Amino acid sequence: EKGTYPHYMLKEMDEQPTVIRKIIQAYESEAGDLTIDAAILHALQDADRLYIIAAGTSYHAGLIGKQYFEKMAGIPVEVHISSEFGYNMPLLSEKPLFIFITQSGETADSRQVLVKIKELGYPTLTITNVPGSTLSREADHTLLLHAGPEIAVASTKAYVAQVAVLAVAAYVTAKANGQGLEFDLKQELAIAANGIQTIIDSKDVLEDIAEDYLKIARNAFFIGRNIDFCVSLEGALKLKEISYIQAEGFAGGELKHGTIALIEEGTPVFALVTQEAVSLNIRGNVKEVAARGAYPCIIAMAGVDEDGDRLVIPPVNELLTPLVSVVPLQLISYYAALHRRCDVDKPRNLAKSVTVE
Ligand code: F6R
Repeated sequence: EKGTYPHYMLKEMDEQPTVIRKIIQAYESEAGDLTIDAAILHALQDADRLYIIAAGTSYHAGLIGKQYFEKMAGIPVEVHISSEFGYNMPLLSEKPLFIFITQSGETADSRQVLVKIKELGYPTLTITNVPGSTLSREADHTLLLHAGPEIAVASTKAYVAQVAVLAVAAYVTAKANGQGLEFDLKQELAIAANGIQTIIDSKDVLEDIAEDYLKIARNAFFIGRNIDFCVSLEGALKLKEISYIQAEGFAGGELKHGTIALIEEGTPVFALVTQEAVSLNIRGNVKEVAARGAYPCIIAMAGVDEDGDRLVIPPVNELLTPLVSVVPLQLISYYAALHRRCDVDKPRNLAKSVTVE
C-alpha cells in the first residue's frame, strides 16, 4: 500500500536506505560477517568467467556488478542484454557461470536465455526480488534482493538492491579467495544507506533542479566516466520512462565523437563526478559542452566537489557510489514527470514485467 504517498515511486525511493539495511541483515552470518549460501559461493569460486544476463534497469545494475566482480574478486565478467544474447551468443569460457538479474523473475527475454543455457548444461544463478518467480525456480541458485514488492513501473529500490547484492556476492567471493580487501563492506553499505537518506531528506533541492533544467527541455544528456557512466545510463532511462523527455547516457569522452552536435543553447547535461581518478576528465567534458551552450548540472561526491557544483552528495566508498548517485537522478526524473503532468507510476506503453520476447 502506498499509504500517504502520492505515488508508489516516491514511496519506493524513500525505502532505499531501509532496503540496504535489510540486505545487510539478510546476508549477515551469526559471527556478524557478510556471507552467502555455500553452494552459491562455490559456484562463483568455480567459474572462470561470469556471464550476466539482464534487461533494462537490471542490465544497468549488471554493468556495475561486472566492476565489482572484476575489481574485488578478480573474476572476468561479461554483461549481456538478454534479448540479444539468444541469437548472438559469444564464445564461452571453459567454466562459465550464468547470472540472471531480474527484479520480477518473469522477464521473457531473460528466461529464454536461461532455458537455452540449461540445455547446454551450464550452472545458473538468478538474482531476483521475487521468491518463487519463474527465473528463480528454473535456475540452480537464487540470491534474493529483499527490496519488498516494487509496484511502480520505473524500477528504483530494486536497482539499488541489485547493486548492493552484487557487491555482497563479489565481496564474499573475494574474501573466500583470499583477496586482500581494505574495507569492511558491511560498514560501507551502512554509510551508503545513510548517504541515500541525506539525499532523500533534501528532496526539495531535486525538485528545484528538475524544474530549473527539465520543465521545458526537449532532450537531456547524462554523462559520466567509469562507474559514473553506468549510472548515467540508468539516469537517462529513468527520465525517458516517466517524463518522456528524450535522454541519453554517455561516456564523457565519447560525446565529442558525434553526439556533441546535438548540444544547443540550454540543453541540459547532467554530469556525475564521483570518481577521483577521472574527475578532471569529466569536468573537462562539462566545459566542452558548456562552451557549446549546454546547461550543465554537476552532481559531485563530497571530496571531489568544486565550487559551482549544483549538488554535492555524501561521500561513500568509491565502488559503492552508484547506490547514492542514482538517487538524485531518480528524484529529478520523478519531479520532471510531475512538472509535466505525466502518470509517474504507470507510464504510457510500459508494463511492470515484460513477459513477451
Ligand atoms: C526500468 C524497468 C525495466 C526493467 C526491465 C527488466 O525502470 O523497470 O527496464 O528493469 O524490464 O525487468 P526485470 O528486472 O523484472 O527482469
